[in-house]
Amino acid sequence: MDAVDEARKSEEAEAFVKRVEELKQLRERMERVGHKVAVMSGKGGVGKSLVTVNLAAALASEGKRVGVLDADLHGPTVPKMLGLKGARLEAGENGIIPPVSPSGIKVASMDFLLPTQDSPIIWRGPLKMAAIRQLLTDIDWGDLDYLLIDLPPGTGDESLTVLQLLPGIDGVVIVTMPNEVSGQVVEKSVTFARQLKAPIIGLVENMSYLICPHCGERINLFGGGVAERVASEMGVPFLGAIPLDPKVAEGSDTGEPFIVKKRDRPASVAFREIVKKIVDFVEG
Ligand SMILES: Nc1ncnc2c1ncn2[C@@H]1O[C@H](COP(=O)(O)OP(=O)(O)OP(=O)(O)O)[C@@H](O)[C@H]1O
Ligand SMILES: [Mg+2]
Repeated sequence: MDAVDEARKSEEAEAFVKRVEELKQLRERMERVGHKVAVMSGKGGVGKSLVTVNLAAALASEGKRVGVLDADLHGPTVPKMLGLKGARLEAGENGIIPPVSPSGIKVASMDFLLPTQDSPIIWRGPLKMAAIRQLLTDIDWGDLDYLLIDLPPGTGDESLTVLQLLPGIDGVVIVTMPNEVSGQVVEKSVTFARQLKAPIIGLVENMSYLICPHCGERINLFGGGVAERVASEMGVPFLGAIPLDPKVAEGSDTGEPFIVKKRDRPASVAFREIVKKIVDFVEG
């Protein structure tokens, strides 16, 4: 064996040892987390982050210890939605310490590491997978009842890494909109989760309908009922529908989840039912 070969072998061995140590650390950290739930969707902009942060806020308001991992590297929005814009990650004795939102939720996000608001992440697959691995391994969550993971849209590198690496994930919630195009794409998410052996908690239909502020009539903006039909066709639970509501959007912009701040809105009533189904699934 020549010197180049030997050097390569020793580098490979070092990388292997590092990966094994990372996996061990990940396992140890995740042993302190009661339940792990990922939120995904086939298409972008359907309300994954909204569902993630409001699920987190609902659980935290019941006294649960909750963390959110924002696994959307290109468009991290969880910090803003939870009132943590501008926060930074800090190094602690046992890893990186996640900032805590005003509602008591621990958050880790790429957004905390970017130098400026307009800095984009321009990475290829392997770098993105390494970044997710690092976030999963290095964040010191401490003891949590729930860790929620907000995935980017689709079935790309970030989602694959999360579902492959997270030991004993309780399941995924799939968010969709009630149009035929979204319905078609949601089937891909279901198949993806199944192939990765992640249990499917169910489908949520967001921006499902509008309640007229004048007469209270329910207006189906896009046909309606698509998610329920797809859920039944694919044999997965339908968790419920959330109406389109300007107060809901306002909560995302001000960092105050609507489920806590606007408890009486129809969206909150509908969302609490969804939370209940998720908790029932996860906690048995
Ligand atoms: N039911 C709703 N009523 C009103 N506004 C909503 C509703 N659901 C989501 N929104 C708003 O739509 C926008 C997109 O939602 P969100 O960011 O949660 O989608 P996403 O699926 O996470 O998007 P991305 O794929 O870019 O990560 C946000 O501004 C959010 O506040
Ligand atoms: Mg999002």
